[in-house]
Amino acid sequence: MELNKNIKERFSVRKFKSTDISDELIKEILDTARWAPSGLNNQPWKFIIIRDSAIKEQIAQQTHYSAIIRNAPVCIAVFYDKTAGYNYVKDVQGCGAAIQNMLLAVHNLGLGGVWLGEILNKRSEVERILEVPADFELMAVVALGYPDEEPKGRTRKPLSELTYLNKYGVKWLE
Ligand SMILES: Cc1cc2nc3c(=O)[nH]c(=O)nc-3n(C[C@H](O)[C@H](O)[C@H](O)COP(=O)(O)O)c2cc1C
Repeated sequence: MELNKNIKERFSVRKFKSTDISDELIKEILDTARWAPSGLNNQPWKFIIIRDSAIKEQIAQQTHYSAIIRNAPVCIAVFYDKTAGYNYVKDVQGCGAAIQNMLLAVHNLGLGGVWLGEILNKRSEVERILEVPADFELMAVVALGYPDEEPKGRTRKPLSELTYLNKYGVKWLE
């Protein structure tokens, strides 16, 4: 299946060409986020698309990964909108599913992106800079652009390490 191949070929891209991303592509990416699953189908996410370099610079100053944000033509801040929420863990998981959909769509469109979470240490500052309502909680910033680097050193643990083998487990995975 093409999707499974895409999942395995996606990687975080942290260096981007200066080429801009069209609004149509951004819409297509957000449309895949919109179709993510969520508990009770409550869709508790909100997005802010950041292109303005002055705002990007202010956001960049809130993370160790400032170079990635400065270099990306577009950043998308993903928020959990508590007014749509019903269960914190499930709502946050839903936001994660929306972010992963976006990253897969980004890859599928020939673009690159990275999920930035370290910036959550300065969550309130980012929320202040972007002037979001008090009910919005920052989940991540996704930096996007046309890739200017190739993946290197990507690894994953083997399935055998990820499958817990107690008396209920099956042993066909090595
Ligand atoms: C919740 C979360 C937070 C992350 N935060 C950062 C971050 O702050 N900076 C960064 O460069 N990458 C960040 N990443 C990207 C991971 O480092 C990356 O997904 C992981 O190393 C696997 O590499 P891959 O995406 O190329 O497969 C984050 C990923 C996730 C899921």
